[in-house]
Amino acid sequence: MKFLRLADLDIKGKRVFIRADLNVPQDDAGAITDDTRIRASVPAIRLALDAGAAVMVTSHLGRPTEGEVKPEDSLAPIARRLGELLGREVPLATGWVDGVTVAPGEVVLLENCRCNKGEKKSDEALARKMAALCDIYVNDAFGTAHRAEATTHGIARFAKVACAGPLMSAELDALGAALLAPRRPLVAIVAGSKVSTKLTILQSLAERVDHMIVGGGIANTFMLASGLAIGKSLAEPDMQDQARAVIERMRAKGGSVPIPTDVVVGTKFAADAIATTKAATEVGADDMIFDIGPATSAVLADIIAKAGTIVWNGPVGVFEFDQFGAGTRAVAAAVAGSAGFSIAGGGDTIAAINKYGIAGKVGYISTAGGAFLEFLEGKTLPAVAILEERAGS
Ligand code: 3PG
Repeated sequence: MKFLRLADLDIKGKRVFIRADLNVPQDDAGAITDDTRIRASVPAIRLALDAGAAVMVTSHLGRPTEGEVKPEDSLAPIARRLGELLGREVPLATGWVDGVTVAPGEVVLLENCRCNKGEKKSDEALARKMAALCDIYVNDAFGTAHRAEATTHGIARFAKVACAGPLMSAELDALGAALLAPRRPLVAIVAGSKVSTKLTILQSLAERVDHMIVGGGIANTFMLASGLAIGKSLAEPDMQDQARAVIERMRAKGGSVPIPTDVVVGTKFAADAIATTKAATEVGADDMIFDIGPATSAVLADIIAKAGTIVWNGPVGVFEFDQFGAGTRAVAAAVAGSAGFSIAGGGDTIAAINKYGIAGKVGYISTAGGAFLEFLEGKTLPAVAILEERAGS
């Protein structure tokens, strides 16, 4: 992927507009419950400030109605947290589309960009006004790269210069290394409740990976497709043909989709459910599969240990309940111990990584949710495509 990078540009005294993804979770009182994305956005802002640029930063927060800023839509709590992280006050500008006052060496946060009329549809007049605010447009919002909105796409068409910030660059470098030029064998771990929501990812990855590890409800559907009884486990019986097609595609190219040979079951989905390990051929009519068993974990750990590259999205069991966490813990340990380059993404995956304390041993952890998944699907991310287009112009 070829795009301009903020770190390579001379931005002293220039007006720099940074589109960050500061869309962080908040509790009912508006308090930020996880500031990972704010912390990840700091390097771009610091870089621009240290270089003497006049810095404007904006982001969406949630999915507000355009044309109004309700109190819950405001970036005010984010401005405060950003200020703490930068060690300076970060003023919040409202009604900023027609003009922003900011001096070189200063930073201003521009109120929730999705509250501007025309943002979501990338209205051209709005995008042109935003482009006129700056000399350099920086997209550092990989988490929103799958959206073609005014601040992620339209502005990049019309700004004098359009480049990627350090977070966007790092995400694209890591994903590119993992999927476009991977060290083999390339192993994907795709888990989650439904085949249907991840079918295009499974199909796209089946073309590229050497081993496809499936987990959770997805694995249950694959077990069903392989002729195993799964009792009352979460599964999609009508997706069996698609699951079989993925298994056959992987087999035809000499790869594998390891089907669990043992599982951990319970009879209710609850923190106090009793966990019983069984052979995959012995799942009872009332059983619900909540984790893979130790023999399956060992097989997967071996595949992961030998991987050149690992792409991980989704825990393989109900790891929130410790009695059903051993499979995910084993996968996490294998990823941490593998000499291969690993990249992980998705909220549940990051929660598992944090629970098992392996964050420092994963090659790259993506800040993105939907954009990470769309990249895995092989889709073109509009915000990346426009940066590439502008780099060629
Ligand atoms: C995310 O949280 O995945 C990104 O911030 C994108 O948010 P969106 O799905 O509302 O566009």
